[in-house]
Amino acid sequence: MSEESIVREDVAEMVGDWRGYVEAKLGFRNHWYPVRFSNELGEGQLQVVELLGERLLIKRIDGVVYSMRDRCLHRGVPLSQKPDCFTKDTITCWYHGYTYRFQTGDLVNILAVPDSRLIGRRKIVTYPVEEAQGLIFIFLGDEDMVHPLARDVPPGFLDEDLMVLGKHRVVDSNWRLGAENGFDGLHIFIHKDTTLRHYRTFNFPIGHTPRPGAVQVVEDEEGPKGVTDDFSQHDPVWDGVIDGQVVISGPRSEQVHGTSASVGTSIWLPGVLKVDSFPNPGLTQFEWYVPLDAKRHLYVQTIGKKVHTEEDRNAFASDFESIWKPHGLDGFNSDDIWAREVTEPFYADDYGWVDEMLCEPDSTLLEWRRVASRHGRGIQTPEKLR
Ligand code: FES
Ligand SMILES: [Fe+2]
Repeated sequence: MSEESIVREDVAEMVGDWRGYVEAKLGFRNHWYPVRFSNELGEGQLQVVELLGERLLIKRIDGVVYSMRDRCLHRGVPLSQKPDCFTKDTITCWYHGYTYRFQTGDLVNILAVPDSRLIGRRKIVTYPVEEAQGLIFIFLGDEDMVHPLARDVPPGFLDEDLMVLGKHRVVDSNWRLGAENGFDGLHIFIHKDTTLRHYRTFNFPIGHTPRPGAVQVVEDEEGPKGVTDDFSQHDPVWDGVIDGQVVISGPRSEQVHGTSASVGTSIWLPGVLKVDSFPNPGLTQFEWYVPLDAKRHLYVQTIGKKVHTEEDRNAFASDFESIWKPHGLDGFNSDDIWAREVTEPFYADDYGWVDEMLCEPDSTLLEWRRVASRHGRGIQTPEKLR
């Protein structure tokens, strides 16, 4: 481990063409990440959020959300310890009165030293913020690296007729175990007992392996970068057999018309999954694995539906509350969450990346690791937090 890195260099060297991914334990800098839903931050409200190992303040002022680092320039204390907002667009440090403007980060005053020559000459770190589809996104990175939000969300997410609803929760695992759990087609095995099956219109096999062509890398210059996996081009396994005996079968019902073959998944930088036609035909699940620090991520779970009338909106809102949230985002995805949390110890010291024993369908994960390494716009390191 070098001083600047929290990642074991011997491991990073061993993995070859996905070294950047191993190094991105705290996430990739210079990307957009969702931190809260818009309706969680009312006018004038202030909240603390974590992102890639940094603590940030977000505040809505005249409808617009701003973000600044939650650390006073003077002696490094968190401003949020006792937020003094004497005017609506400034925050004053509770300790000695350094006062910052949210819109620019400028040190506009030191209340206890009004003649200080530092005033007007220093800035606290601020980051660009955008709101889209009911989510607040922060660009965690350097000023000269800002890219359009559209390059950091899955295709279709910003469609105007898409209605997006969701929730978020903190998961005790590194963000990459979240991303890989979502994109890992083979983990369909864990979902064989899901409560969602009472509502779903799918029959799920217990496993499936992509045929050549099922997995595609997307690297268009102007668009998001990622990997797609089309389940219609998979060979399914319906029965699990030990010593000639069927011991388990994927749920199959005559009344159900579709199979998971109508589903397609894709994973995009900086760590967001799109699941087409899920948890029901006509719906799309989008979920982010937002690095909070090296050991935790914010799991931002959303479901989108194309709506054209008020009636459509109401119907989706009602189904979301009564079916998709409890049985999809809470029920189905809770299996994913505990799987990530118990995977964490194996990868925590980085050796998991070389000690794992992947099998054939896991080649999709290797594709993702390579794409992320090629297109991540920067590695977040502890040094960047200074
Ligand atoms: S530590 Fe913030 S003003 Fe002194
Ligand atoms: Fe899952």
